[in-house]
Amino acid sequence: MNSISIVQLLSNAPIGENVCVKGWVRHFRGNRFIALSDGSTIKTLQIVLDFENMEEDILKQITTGACLSVEGELIASQGKGQALELNCTKLEVLGTCDAESYPLQPKKHSLEFLREKAHLRPRTNTFGAVLRVRHTLSFAVHQYFNTKGFFNLHTPIITGSDAEGAGEMFGVSTLNKKDIPLTENGEIDYSQDFFEKETNLTVSGQLEAELGAMGLGKVYTFGPTFRAENSNTARHLAEFWMIEPEVAFADLDDNMDLAEDFMQNVIGYTLKACKDDLEFLQNRLTDEEKSKPQNERSDMPLLEKLEFVTSNNFKRLSYTEAFDVLRNSKPNKKKKFQYPITEWGMDLQSEHEKHLVKHFGCPVILYDYPASIKAFYMRLNADGKTVRAMDILFPGIGEIVGGSQREERHDVLLQKMKDLNIDPEELWWYLETRKYGTCVHSGFGLGFERLVLFVTGMQNIRDVIPFPRTPGNADF
Ligand code: 4AD
Ligand code: MG
Repeated sequence: MNSISIVQLLSNAPIGENVCVKGWVRHFRGNRFIALSDGSTIKTLQIVLDFENMEEDILKQITTGACLSVEGELIASQGKGQALELNCTKLEVLGTCDAESYPLQPKKHSLEFLREKAHLRPRTNTFGAVLRVRHTLSFAVHQYFNTKGFFNLHTPIITGSDAEGAGEMFGVSTLNKKDIPLTENGEIDYSQDFFEKETNLTVSGQLEAELGAMGLGKVYTFGPTFRAENSNTARHLAEFWMIEPEVAFADLDDNMDLAEDFMQNVIGYTLKACKDDLEFLQNRLTDEEKSKPQNERSDMPLLEKLEFVTSNNFKRLSYTEAFDVLRNSKPNKKKKFQYPITEWGMDLQSEHEKHLVKHFGCPVILYDYPASIKAFYMRLNADGKTVRAMDILFPGIGEIVGGSQREERHDVLLQKMKDLNIDPEELWWYLETRKYGTCVHSGFGLGFERLVLFVTGMQNIRDVIPFPRTPGNADF
């Protein structure tokens, strides 16, 4: 008999039919009731056993974590807590699970503990919910762009350039580490390496996405990116997924409009599609926050927060306006910021971003940043000191999106690269798009895990990606 998923069973509710379900035992009580989970939904299916007519040996194998195939008749439940249950007529233990040594006991485990058990944590309620929400967000991203006429462009993972110019890259090499060839100057001789040049894992698909936009008009990338920044925070991963749209003929205002519409759309879609999971995650968060002081708790329950973000405009203000808000703010005057707001041009820290979001009570888009703190490719404003950059700041997250209108003027771009010691030879292909049919264009990058953090209400970025990569950790 073909098996059917629990989510299908619960939505079709074919009462009276014989069905087969496969999944893992969550708990087993009274030698009679199994809560079976198959991962298709946060809900479990109650299996009712006729234990008096079952072999003792088989009954003993029904332990938390064991994998079962169960056949029987679907009936309206007699008990409370579920609408349906399965009256078991045939049970097969597909995989036993030693109750003594199985790490996931039927009780609450800490998220830290579960990180050490990343191979098993997809079987828990919390990670099941997070991973289903993550999938739905990913689907919503592709659906949004497809509907809006964007083409998905697959940009390379291995690159010869540093898109962000921040130098925080993982090298890719096949040179023998014990006998690295050197040039006459004592430098590594990359001409003997696989690609005959120095290469790295990409930090961003943007530069290549720009090339795509200059021919296809509207493109987006959605792929893994890698940063060797040694930031051991709850917001940073060494390997994370980034969504980067790039649009020809779009200026910074168009870019902000796109980012806002896009964020509201994918969050709105997920709110509808993942109601059960989000309700579970909302309760989880409320529970967890009970032990926190009032001022560290969320302002709104999770679902209300998501609803709010999808239905209210983001606040837009320039860096200069934000700088004034921050300079005149209470925490600044009372010297509560670790980095006091002193000079125009300073980079904003996460404490400042958090303050701005709290101050306005909604997502904030900051634009027109000082040129000196932003990447080389951002378009210079007429004032000569700010660039057409934008960052989107989200409640509880801080920076979630970074983007800009790109410098489309060949001479201005070339000068900027020279000023920042970026070798124009290395990016000759990027410069050529400014020589041959250049145009105004813009784009942004959304850190996918930060979006998943926001939507699930989870607190640590290590808990929204199946197998996190962070300094000192590449297990699993
Ligand atoms: O602001 P970033 O560095 O911008 C870029 O890479 C541009 N090339 C994007 C573009 O314009 N196409 O990174 C974009 C976003 C950040 O706002 C943040 O959400 C996320 O990527 N991000 C990280 N997420 C997790 N771990 C890290 N180490 C991250 N670094 C950036
Ligand atoms: Mg940024």
